[in-house]
Amino acid sequence: MSFLSCLTLLHACSTPQTTNIVEQVLATVEIDEAAHFPTPSGEDITVMPGAYQIKTEQYGIRLFAEEGTESESMLIEAKPTNHTESIIQPIALMSSDKKGHRVVTLLRPNGERWDAWGTQGAESSLTGQPLHIPSAQIMQRFNTINLDKAIIPQFSLASVSVKYDDTKKSHKGEKLKTTWRLPVNDTLDSGSFTFTWRGYWEKSAFQPSFIPSKVVDLQNLVKKKQCCITLTVDGKEAPLTRLSFSKHGTLLTRVQLDNVRVKTWPKTVKVVVTKGKKTWESASIKIYAKAISYYESVLHPIFSHDRCTTCHALGTHDKIVDMHQYRIGIEKFPYEFDEEARPQNPTFCETCHKAPYLKNAWFSPLSVQEIDWKGLDAIRVCRKVTGPFINKDGEVEPPFDRKRLTQHFHENPRIIWAISDGLTPSGKDLNVPLSKKLSLWFRKVDPWVEAGTPCPTNTKFFQRQRHTLTEKFFPRQ
Ligand code: HEC
Ligand code: HEC
Repeated sequence: MSFLSCLTLLHACSTPQTTNIVEQVLATVEIDEAAHFPTPSGEDITVMPGAYQIKTEQYGIRLFAEEGTESESMLIEAKPTNHTESIIQPIALMSSDKKGHRVVTLLRPNGERWDAWGTQGAESSLTGQPLHIPSAQIMQRFNTINLDKAIIPQFSLASVSVKYDDTKKSHKGEKLKTTWRLPVNDTLDSGSFTFTWRGYWEKSAFQPSFIPSKVVDLQNLVKKKQCCITLTVDGKEAPLTRLSFSKHGTLLTRVQLDNVRVKTWPKTVKVVVTKGKKTWESASIKIYAKAISYYESVLHPIFSHDRCTTCHALGTHDKIVDMHQYRIGIEKFPYEFDEEARPQNPTFCETCHKAPYLKNAWFSPLSVQEIDWKGLDAIRVCRKVTGPFINKDGEVEPPFDRKRLTQHFHENPRIIWAISDGLTPSGKDLNVPLSKKLSLWFRKVDPWVEAGTPCPTNTKFFQRQRHTLTEKFFPRQ
């Protein structure tokens, strides 16, 4: 008897008046890697990793993020055909091939099959047939996945959290309907992860099946820090850095993990405890990540500091004159009619700004370069900082590569002045973000460049591309 017919029976037993309830159950699809999908009106949408519930509509399927609200949903183009599998609940799966094709398939109990075709990266580069997976194969995969889930585990995950070396703050994960979501840094690549486990909690039970700290065998294993308690992450054993009992008698396991930037998730974790012939085991638990922006929390306060933005705002002759006259008086800056007092003119500025290390580099950008970012939010400043840049002739230059960006942040005299010096020609010390602490600045900015300068986004689940599809989709007739 197949797993699904079991399910059919179970379902029929426990809920007598099923018939129309089942059609309303929504299928959930897990999307493990960001994928692009067209909408019926021809937009290109990126669906971020996570679990989504699916409803069919006239022109496609609508995805509802598991942790989102009704309004945070997206309709993607999908085409209906038929299938002959007998199922009592809708089933949805995402499939992929190595060429970058993606497809979300939905099988409904009424014999309808819907496919939404997408791609891994930006659309156009793909060639070949769109991916088609036979319905029987979908059923097979679905059954294997669910057989695994149907085994009742002894442990269930009670909590998950992460702490990074340089901050004391711990970020806690949140349990969703079918998966977990953990705030994970988009830049820092290693951290300390804590998982606590409790006895399995059956639905509608008043308490978990057992309390780990009350089980003698477990007490001994924890006391002696013995072998036999293994935590695996994506199937690989992770050495425990801490093992103890925690709140409410849960079993606490802590591991130090590398390669944990937000892009490397979801990951699956599992704990197995063996003692002689006895084993206690959890299911494989999938954890999706929610990005914590390193730029926003660590770098934005520096990039948006007055020492950077004041100079970046001096894009015209008038602005240069106004700023100086306001600060030091007209007598000391009598250049209203001097054309030399303009942006991109270090020779003039040097007559006053002549600290030796400034080396002909003290000048302000032209307003056409569009790097006056005073008052803009983190997302927009981050975009400007990461380029592409506009040079003084108004030409767009390609974004800096890693090496040149590092060089800019480490060696550019204007940046060094603004970060850690702040001394003016009149001998005044203006306040700076990291006074005389250049090495701390490098420690802050280097990991971000290393990570590929990730910027914050305000998209939690769906991201609209700024360009439209070259080959436009139209709604079916
Ligand atoms: C004295 C004026 C001045 C100060 C202070 C200054 N900048 Fe700039 N910045 C410029 C100029 C001028 C350019 C354009 C360089 C060019 O056109 O070659 C620029 C360009 C940039 C760019 C674009 C990359 C490039 O070189 O074109 C970034 C990013 C940047 N600045 C960041 C900062 C940050 C961050 C700070 C503060 C820590 C800062 N700047 C302080 C004048 C300044
Ligand atoms: C006549 C001397 C003189 C010249 C020429 C001069 N500056 Fe200044 N500049 C000063 C003084 C003095 C200050 C310090 C103002 C204060 O004490 O607040 C200053 C401050 C600044 C600051 C720091 C503002 C801040 O709050 O971070 C910038 C940027 C700046 N000048 C840019 C320029 C540029 C660009 C030029 C060339 C177009 C230039 N200056 C030419 C005298 C001069």
